[in-house]
Amino acid sequence: MSSLEKDRAVGEHQPLPTGVDPTIPNVARMYDYALGGKDNFAVDRELMEQLFAVVPYGPRPALENRAFLGRAVRFLADAGIRQFLDIGSGLPTVGNVHQVAHATAPDARIVYVDYDPVAVAHSWTLLSGTDKATAIQADMRRPDNILTDPGVTSLIDFTQPVAVLLVAMLHLLPDDQDPAGIVRRFREAMAPGSYLVVSHITSHEQPADVATNLRKVFEQAREPMVPRSREQIRCFFEGLELVDPGLVKVPDWRPDQPGRPRQPATGLVLGGVGLKR
Ligand SMILES: C[S@@+](CC[C@H](N)C(=O)[O-])C[C@H]1O[C@@H](n2cnc3c(N)ncnc32)[C@H](O)[C@@H]1O
Repeated sequence: MSSLEKDRAVGEHQPLPTGVDPTIPNVARMYDYALGGKDNFAVDRELMEQLFAVVPYGPRPALENRAFLGRAVRFLADAGIRQFLDIGSGLPTVGNVHQVAHATAPDARIVYVDYDPVAVAHSWTLLSGTDKATAIQADMRRPDNILTDPGVTSLIDFTQPVAVLLVAMLHLLPDDQDPAGIVRRFREAMAPGSYLVVSHITSHEQPADVATNLRKVFEQAREPMVPRSREQIRCFFEGLELVDPGLVKVPDWRPDQPGRPRQPATGLVLGGVGLKR
């Protein structure tokens, strides 16, 4: 039984945390299910299975994305970055940002941001015992609240290089919520020498029905799904210099063993890392 289901099982005596609705699938728990995690409800699993039925990649895009996140963080730690702001960080799972960063740079400071109360509560549990990382509950649609949150400013100095991670989350923001303006605000706040990491579900080179089916299935979830073209995703890096190999299918972004034969990328997720000069 997952910890959430345990919460639910004792729900008569201990209600679920505020803001948790076990009847509506949400992306944090659906993604957890795709990654093989246990912090999800039946509704999340059922919707993910519906998705797997019409978008025939199974959990591979989620796994590809998570592996990209790990490689990007390692690259940034190797490049000397010591501050990480991970927005839309999700439920803790394998290869959390602080674990990857601390393997290279034990002095790195990490702030996790998510609007999901359970993701934040689980992050706190995982982080008890370290003063180098914390988690705050905040909505990325209000970037200034994040940039000035005391939990963020206690660990991150925006006058120094920082890595801002927006990994597998901008496709949850429709255009009318101004994702471009939100990302611009974070880019503006970053000191020279900072990096922006973005991964995003794409319609680029995908069969036409993939984007349609994704949108349709997500109509039943709390968050909408907005696959974007390669050009639209490229715009999130405006004014930044994409580091090699640019904006690519996430398994093709600096693979650990470049020469080794790999399963072909699904191509459903594009990712890149941009440097602010
Ligand atoms: C698919 S998960 C990605 C987790 C992690 N970044 C990764 O790539 O492994 C997306 C996360 O974004 C969070 N999220 C969605 N919209 C958000 C918003 N407006 N503000 C903050 N977090 C949000 C969800 O709660 C979820 O945990």
